Amino acid sequence: MSQLFTPVRIGRHIAPNRLVMAPMTRSRADAKGVPGDMTVTYYTQRASAGLIITEGVFPSALGKGYVNTPGMETEAQVAGWKRVTEAVHARGGRIFMQLMHCGRISHPSLLDGATPVAPSAIKPEGQAWTPAGQADFVTPRELTLAEIAGVIDDYRQATRRAIDAGFDGVELHAASGYLPEQFLSSASNHRQDQYGGSVKGRARFVLEALAAMAAEAGADRVGIKISPEMNYNSITDAAPQETYTYLVDQLRGQGLAYLHVALFGTTVDYHAMLRPRFDGTYLIGGGLTQDSAAALLADGKADATVFGSAFLANPDLPERFRQGAALNAPDRNTFFAPPTAKGYIDYPALAEA
Ligand SMILES: Cc1cc2nc3c(=O)[nH]c(=O)nc-3n(C[C@H](O)[C@H](O)[C@H](O)COP(=O)(O)O)c2cc1C
Repeated sequence: MSQLFTPVRIGRHIAPNRLVMAPMTRSRADAKGVPGDMTVTYYTQRASAGLIITEGVFPSALGKGYVNTPGMETEAQVAGWKRVTEAVHARGGRIFMQLMHCGRISHPSLLDGATPVAPSAIKPEGQAWTPAGQADFVTPRELTLAEIAGVIDDYRQATRRAIDAGFDGVELHAASGYLPEQFLSSASNHRQDQYGGSVKGRARFVLEALAAMAAEAGADRVGIKISPEMNYNSITDAAPQETYTYLVDQLRGQGLAYLHVALFGTTVDYHAMLRPRFDGTYLIGGGLTQDSAAALLADGKADATVFGSAFLANPDLPERFRQGAALNAPDRNTFFAPPTAKGYIDYPALAEA
């Protein structure tokens, strides 16, 4: 039998299969960042995943970067998420919350007029999706040292709330050009203090955020996602191989639940470079098919495999893979729709198809 359907350790937990649902922003929360009934249904439909990683969730209001994304700061947000974890657990699933602070990939209109924050006051190229439509990114405000300590504490508090709300763990989103990667990358971090300069300085924020999360959840309920050279959201690094090997060397020995690496068309084989440096469960994502995932597992290159759009469109993806059944095609027009059920909770499972 394919290793896709064998159990795997995810930190404190055992997943019954190696098919992980990727974190995917869906913009179906309300304007206050509260997930509602549809979100309960959406995740419950996908509870047969070995592990669900939620969409990016802002740990504090200043971390919001898109319309209708959920948060983990207010009582109402916590109560909304508690309904999600209870329903997923009732179906036998496991679910981690991805904490996503967007930093400079935001806009004042999403932040009650506040200026987005970043390691340095460097404006990203591109546009934010605001309530009034697309708008150019603005020059962010450089975080002070005291504010950095505050943001790290926001990750800690959001982790506490996530655990209290029943999540099985939390993932630090350190990819896709959001705040942690803004610190990591040389082009977006021009700081002269201990959070910038050398790779050691640029990695400090990520390591401190992880440590704060581990202090609340235990390291074996904390994972991290990275995407070297994805260069998404205007992020670039002068020496990514040095940056990511240094970072992963620091992760070794910490007892983390997993390292999640999503690659998108890089010519460098980061998996070959990073996996031997890490001593825990290694998740690979980015453009996988059932066959490529099975091959990664068979070759010992990954411990578990992460599927994004395929899980979005196929609530029963593991069963479809098991049967070799056809897959529903994802509809890109409804990835980030206004809060409607279409393209969210109406993808049919096999029995209904
Ligand atoms: C609609 C959509 C939303 C996404 N939002 C997030 C997100 O919030 N956090 C994140 O880490 N990655 C996000 N991603 C990236 C996925 O986690 C994953 O890395 C990517 O889709 C590649 O996997 P795939 O080829 O299997 O879809 C998103 C992808 C999609 C399709």
